[in-house]
Amino acid sequence: MLKPGATIGILGGGQLGRMLAIAAQQLGLKVHIYSPDKDSCAFDVVHAFTCAAYEDEAALGRFAGSVDVITYEFENVPAKTAAFLAKRKQVMPNPRVLEITQDRLIEKNFISELKIGTAPYASVHSASQLAAGIEKVGLPAVLKTKQLGYDGKGQAKIAKGVDANAAWRSLKNEPCILEGFVNFEREVSVIAARSADGKVECFEVTENEHRDHILHLSKVPAKVSPALAAEARKIATKIAKAFDYVGVLAVEMFVVRAGKKQTVLVNEIAPRVHNSGHWTIDGATVSQFEQHIRAVAGWPLAKPVRLGRVEMTNLIGTEANEAQHWLTVPGASLHLYGKKDPRPGRKMGHVTRVFGK
Ligand SMILES: Nc1ncnc2c1ncn2[C@@H]1O[C@H](COP(=O)(O)OP(=O)(O)O)[C@@H](O)[C@H]1O
Ligand SMILES: [Mg+2]
Repeated sequence: MLKPGATIGILGGGQLGRMLAIAAQQLGLKVHIYSPDKDSCAFDVVHAFTCAAYEDEAALGRFAGSVDVITYEFENVPAKTAAFLAKRKQVMPNPRVLEITQDRLIEKNFISELKIGTAPYASVHSASQLAAGIEKVGLPAVLKTKQLGYDGKGQAKIAKGVDANAAWRSLKNEPCILEGFVNFEREVSVIAARSADGKVECFEVTENEHRDHILHLSKVPAKVSPALAAEARKIATKIAKAFDYVGVLAVEMFVVRAGKKQTVLVNEIAPRVHNSGHWTIDGATVSQFEQHIRAVAGWPLAKPVRLGRVEMTNLIGTEANEAQHWLTVPGASLHLYGKKDPRPGRKMGHVTRVFGK
């Protein structure tokens, strides 16, 4: 159990690291960010940072020596980096989680082994596997590179009657997973926290709308039945336990209708705090960021209480130019991440609106 004044090392320096650092500071803990990107917006709010490559073992060694525990805000930390650090300091969540979630196929196999539903899927490493995969999952389908995709990058939809090989070529013939296209009613996520002593606290199920494959709006509570909400939280809890997880994770799900009943299929797992949990900063008594810090510090988790009906809107690219507008909207809280260049598709900030119960 860390004492106030101890230092948490965080790999990754984006807005998630920035908001984790702010939460840590509220609890009297210090943060040291490690990121290879000199423009990391988390550097601006921390007590120490290291700007070095994930392969720089001298810098990693110094980093490990200067912190009390290590966590990450980004799931593509190279396995070798995580292993190097884990020999020197405790890394939470444990690096096995990274191995599973960095590869969409290994992740889907892991979920299926837990008897949790997913879209039908197949591995695609060759043109003949692509044809066999289409036989298995049907069309339309979505082809996704196994590794390094985010915000819809590394994905191609395959409609009926189009050239499937062209879709695969558009992904540079990289190893892929082919998924049957799910006709979902809505998309939801569960943000779950698990403490070092194995207790789990889930936030309420969040409903998510994407635009151009990027999260646009999150709403809580999600429009789902109490039974479905309970099922979704049970699934997230099962995944957190199976990983022997310490920290916050997000499980993205599709809500589908099977006759009269709604049910969920798991889309993907993010082994970190998640954009669809940003509403918890202003919309609940404890945020996902604070829960993560509590967990990796070995502290007890809080029981989150939601403060009203909540909506979180991302400010993407030049949408941040209109941020001023939100300053005077009743019930709105503005968060800007301090990024200079509002490139298209870049997450620049978000706004949370809390409405009466
Ligand atoms: N099998 C699928 N069926 C229908 N829609 C999908 C499917 N897979 C992904 N999508 C859509 O694309 C979005 C992004 O895909 P996802 O697998 O979550 O990748 P990432 O968020 O890493 O880019 C999802 O939120 C969903 O809207
Ligand atoms: Mg996703």
